[in-house]
Amino acid sequence: MTNGHSTNGRGAAEQTEYVYSETAIDHMRNPRNVGLISSPDGQASITGPCGDTMEIWLRVADGVIERASFWTDGCGTTIAAGSMVTELARGKRPAEAFRIEQQDVLDALGGLPDGSVHCALLASNTLKQAIQDHLAYRSEPWKRAYRKR
Ligand code: FES
Repeated sequence: MTNGHSTNGRGAAEQTEYVYSETAIDHMRNPRNVGLISSPDGQASITGPCGDTMEIWLRVADGVIERASFWTDGCGTTIAAGSMVTELARGKRPAEAFRIEQQDVLDALGGLPDGSVHCALLASNTLKQAIQDHLAYRSEPWKRAYRKR
């Protein structure tokens, strides 16, 4: 399966149809790392301009993201983006994972349609905020007692 736009060749009624990559379809249908991590070492929840929310949890051990998980109420592409960004973060040092950008998520998924590229931005932004949360708690661990959940 190819990635990109193709047309059905119906003249004036021609429609643009996006063909998802096999990787994107796989992550939509079989998302990795779904669900919360209790007592996480970093957590963030962001609601994007489209109204969809993504939440990411991190488990960090020996300076490495051992586990990253997510939840979203968004559509299939948002699920694929959350699945991929948590896969990309796993095994990386927080500072290294902080450099994961929207484009990295898009590249790893083999692209997304133009109308869905913001799903990858929501995923990368939520990951960055979870890492910032981790770094803030690492420097002031007493704040964990005041974490809402
Ligand atoms: Fe809103 Fe994907 S459609 S984040």
